[in-house]
Amino acid sequence: MANILVTGGAGYVGSVCCRQLLELGHSVTVVDDLSTGHREALPSGAVFCQFSIGDRESLSGLLKSQRFDSVFHFAAKALIPESVANPGVFFDSNVGDGIRMLETIREAGIRRFVFSSSAAVYGTPVETPIVESHPKAPVNSYGETKLMLERALDWYAKAYGWGVASFRYFNASGATGEAGEAHDPETHLIPIALQAAMGQREYLEIYGNDYPTPDGTCVRDFVHVLDIADAHIRVLDAMQDGVAAAYNIGTGTGYTVKEICRAIETVTGHPVPVRMGARRPGDPPILCASPKKIMDELGWKPSRSSLENIVSSAFHWHESVLAAAPAGGRLAG
Ligand code: UFG
Repeated sequence: MANILVTGGAGYVGSVCCRQLLELGHSVTVVDDLSTGHREALPSGAVFCQFSIGDRESLSGLLKSQRFDSVFHFAAKALIPESVANPGVFFDSNVGDGIRMLETIREAGIRRFVFSSSAAVYGTPVETPIVESHPKAPVNSYGETKLMLERALDWYAKAYGWGVASFRYFNASGATGEAGEAHDPETHLIPIALQAAMGQREYLEIYGNDYPTPDGTCVRDFVHVLDIADAHIRVLDAMQDGVAAAYNIGTGTGYTVKEICRAIETVTGHPVPVRMGARRPGDPPILCASPKKIMDELGWKPSRSSLENIVSSAFHWHESVLAAAPAGGRLAG
């Protein structure tokens, strides 16, 4: 069993991954400054340390206190609209703090690193489905910061013999019994459309219906958070000294924003009130993965990522949060 350091373990994907690791018998220590994560999302078996990944003193103290086998790095600023409006904050946090963290990890002698990257590294695709070798031309600073850290990790693999896996998530979505998607402010499609269906917001604004797609709205590849966690578990035994590998995590099937609304209407039994709005800066029209590499090399399958399962699990979690916190409080992830 491995001893794993998880940054961002109080966030949506990070907390689900921690829970899976613990269930398999691994030891988990979470570093999270709770700037966007939720303390309630932390699984009870995880040791929790509250500080920023860029805090070298605290991190190096932790790394001296015990020996970790691998680092799973989820912590990052991740809201695309904010990354377009305020790129400096993203470079400072995702890249500046990220490199400080890598250096602290290097000094501690840990050489296995799993990075939560993003489909945002590709920008507007010139070919879909997107394969990992597709040109990288981010259209928002979020994607740029993810690409910069991926590239730094390539050099760490070459120079220091690290084994690295960068996972380029497409649209992380869905929920488990304990954790679901809840950002503040919420900007993601499925939680917002669920809120609109449940009468917690007046309407969903659809950002653009003049894209070159079947119904004019953007196409996205939604992948269930448990399938993302599964990829992290699988790669634990697959990383090799001196090799930095990048994998897409997506299903290969894309849905338009309008198709997502219809799926939510079917699952909830309520209409999703919508208004058509302008395009949102930084949105590529179509993002759809080729998951062939991760399937071939890690034996991964998106077995929980049917649209029905994604939307219904998100809905059930959403309902459970509402039932537990009628005043609008947030319970997890
Ligand atoms: N959308 C709306 N209205 C909303 C919210 C979203 O129309 O209120 C649309 C967006 O314009 C986009 C689609 O729904 O076309 C999905 O938007 P999300 O914000 O849910 O997700 P993104 O595709 O923008 O972002 C995701 C991940 C990022 C990743 C990015 C790749 O959350 O981490 O894909 O660009 F980087």
